[in-house]
Amino acid sequence: MRVLASPLCRVLLRLLPHCGPVGVSPAKGSILKPCKQMLRQNFSDKAEQVTTTELVSYWRDVFEANGIPEAQESSEYIVSHVLGAKTFQTLKPSSLFTPLTKEQQQQIQQLCAKRLQRMPVQYVLGEWDFQDLTLKMKPPVFIPRPETEDLVFLVVEEESRRRLASVGNTDQRLRDASLYPVILEVGCGSGAVALSLLSKLPHSQVIALDKAEAAVNLTRENAESELRKHMVMAESCLGSFSNVGSWEQLVPWGPVDIIISNPPYVFHEDMTHLEAEILRYEDLDALDGGDDGMRVIKEILMLASYLLKDEGSVFLEVDPRHPEMVKNWLQSHPDLLLSFSATHKDFCGK
Ligand SMILES: C[S@@+](CC[C@H](N)C(=O)[O-])C[C@H]1O[C@@H](n2cnc3c(N)ncnc32)[C@H](O)[C@@H]1O
Ligand SMILES: *[C@@H]1O[C@H](CO)[C@@H](O)[C@H](O)[C@H]1NC(C)=O
Ligand SMILES: *[C@@H]1O[C@H](CO)[C@@H](O)[C@H](O)[C@H]1NC(C)=O
Repeated sequence: MRVLASPLCRVLLRLLPHCGPVGVSPAKGSILKPCKQMLRQNFSDKAEQVTTTELVSYWRDVFEANGIPEAQESSEYIVSHVLGAKTFQTLKPSSLFTPLTKEQQQQIQQLCAKRLQRMPVQYVLGEWDFQDLTLKMKPPVFIPRPETEDLVFLVVEEESRRRLASVGNTDQRLRDASLYPVILEVGCGSGAVALSLLSKLPHSQVIALDKAEAAVNLTRENAESELRKHMVMAESCLGSFSNVGSWEQLVPWGPVDIIISNPPYVFHEDMTHLEAEILRYEDLDALDGGDDGMRVIKEILMLASYLLKDEGSVFLEVDPRHPEMVKNWLQSHPDLLLSFSATHKDFCGK
């Protein structure tokens, strides 16, 4: 606090109005530059005196002055990450008041400069947690959202119920391969859903596909680093394909027990209201579901009629307006032999 209340800091904060607010002017990148240079000069001058807590407050103030959302969290995550912790709360108490090295400060500054350009903190750090996995994040591959953990939970819960309801003692159940589901995920992004299912249902087979090559690559990368920790059968289970459109290539993998997807489901007209973080950095094809948000949902339901076992289920994360629309659409497509089963709200009540 003392260092940050020094004239240096005040100079900087006074100058910030010249730098921002970010997001208002299309020329923000160039306007930010003088300020960044100043930061570098001044922090290198004071290198020995800046501690973790001071630096967190400092960058929080810079973010706030530049209109960056979640200023405090952004600052905490970046500083903690450079110090090798996931959160500010899990930093060693002793490191809170230890002066940071010049290298650490420079690294923090480089990451904060990205955040100042509205890059989502997940891309800035290059990794993010989904349930108990730590996954690599790379723009423009979709960043997993916390509500999608609920979707995974539903499938795991249903699978446990199905296994418990099956006949036979525990030994027989463990041996019965038919009790371990074959799961197809459409639109795997970073692999969050597919890998989380594999770690929670280690005997299942998961086939993950995405139309974006960057997503298939990232899922494969995350499978290699994460599954090694969680399970043995990884590489033989995970197939990666490219497009829902060419479902024929999936036939050899079928029939499947479960199709799961967090498809692009944002109504096209709502796309412009999304935050700058999303619009500038994430693949918009991962979000835009067309005029009624149903474009990929319909493809998945058609795919399901070919690939799903008779008793199989489709789990979809959708917009709150979609359950009714899906119900109606299925009623007008009786040939697909699919029936609507249930709607579950996520932890936000949506
Ligand atoms: C909302 S993201 C979900 C990613 C990941 N499952 C998650 O929850 O974090 C949707 C994903 O579907 C992919 N996608 C969009 N249209 C597709 C299509 N027609 N076939 C296959 N994948 C598609 C996008 O590339 C994107 O990775
Ligand atoms: C950086 O800090 C020095 C003191 O170490 C100060 O004199 C100088 O004005 C600051 N730089 C700028 C560009 O404000
Ligand atoms: C995906 O990985 C392949 C093989 O490593 C590489 O050639 C290709 O450029 C990558 N594609 C993208 C979009 O990252």
